[in-house]
Amino acid sequence: MSDKSTIKLNGREYDFAPGETVLDVAARHDIYIPTLCHDPRLDAVGACRTCLVEIDGWRRLAPACATQLEPGMEIASENERIDRHRQTLLSLYMTDHPTDPAAAEPGAPNELHAMASHYEAPMDWGYMESLRDARPDDRNPYVLFEPDLCILCARCTRYCDEIEGVNAITLAGRASETTISTVDKLSLMDTSCELCGGCIDVCPTGAMGKKMPLVRGDKPERELDKVRTTCNFCGVGCQLDLNVDRDARDGQGRIVKVTSPPVGTTTNDGNLCVKGRFAYDFVHHEDRITTPLIRGEDGELHPASWDEALQAAASGLLAVKDKHGKDSLGFVSSSRCTMEENFLVQKMSRAVFGTNNVHQCAAT
Ligand code: SF4
Ligand code: SF4
Ligand code: FES
Repeated sequence: MSDKSTIKLNGREYDFAPGETVLDVAARHDIYIPTLCHDPRLDAVGACRTCLVEIDGWRRLAPACATQLEPGMEIASENERIDRHRQTLLSLYMTDHPTDPAAAEPGAPNELHAMASHYEAPMDWGYMESLRDARPDDRNPYVLFEPDLCILCARCTRYCDEIEGVNAITLAGRASETTISTVDKLSLMDTSCELCGGCIDVCPTGAMGKKMPLVRGDKPERELDKVRTTCNFCGVGCQLDLNVDRDARDGQGRIVKVTSPPVGTTTNDGNLCVKGRFAYDFVHHEDRITTPLIRGEDGELHPASWDEALQAAASGLLAVKDKHGKDSLGFVSSSRCTMEENFLVQKMSRAVFGTNNVHQCAAT
């Protein structure tokens, strides 16, 4: 065995750093190895066996996600033996998994279905009714678990433990009755769950899904546009993707769900909290104020243009300053504004009205 820190993958030589796995090097060089239980944020468990590769001199296929590289290894990630293994494995997964993609949350990515079709896994091995306990739907408002869709990859439970540090869900039961559950089958509302929805995001089959209807009364298979934006609920400023159904509301578009951008692409690294992920109903709420309002002589609020509204606000503030002095004014901004907007509020307070009475609730 050579002592250089290189290996061969599919006949080509690659460098690697100590501790790197076969999957790390393959991912860095865009070499596709299928995975179901892997998430780069989580410790490798090698549970799903979809990523098995062949290593020269090893009798058994080895999991790419959990096998650390040693100098001189010669590895194949594709060949007839590996393809046969993946086809058989995926066919077995599909025997107790609904083959109809519509069984999962509409529009949710189903990595298992995509992989089974990529490897042309035979789907005619029959369907075995799942023996998993159909956990009674609990009263939490956001997360829905469909045991039939679950392949026990444990991405959700490991995410809950290793990333959120919450441990609200766990693998429970034995053998064919193993499922995802909470302690004593409690409602998530009665556990330490923070309803961050990370379990939904990491689930490769749609078994963890959203309770809120995804596409209201429309075709579920419709492609959703993703619009990257900044969460405006707190000063952390997580990046999130608004999933927009452009054809809904007579072509005006509707946000139908929020997802986190892929792991490693933004500072929140694929994570969101309950507000960022679920609290978007206000965007299309019928009570939302969408035009400026000015209170008239009659005491009622009347719609106005932005120019009229800004003029009314400026006149009112200047009148207070003239009558009571500049420090009778105070400006309170919001953590739901961007940093640039908060900067402008303090600038207006100090430079335009001459007072340091300015505050923002998150004090960022
Ligand atoms: S619910 Fe989804 S993420 Fe959790 S174990 Fe089942 S398939 Fe994996
Ligand atoms: S997702 Fe949660 S933590 Fe992130 S910015 Fe929004 S409210 Fe703050
Ligand atoms: S991704 Fe390697 S065993 Fe599941």
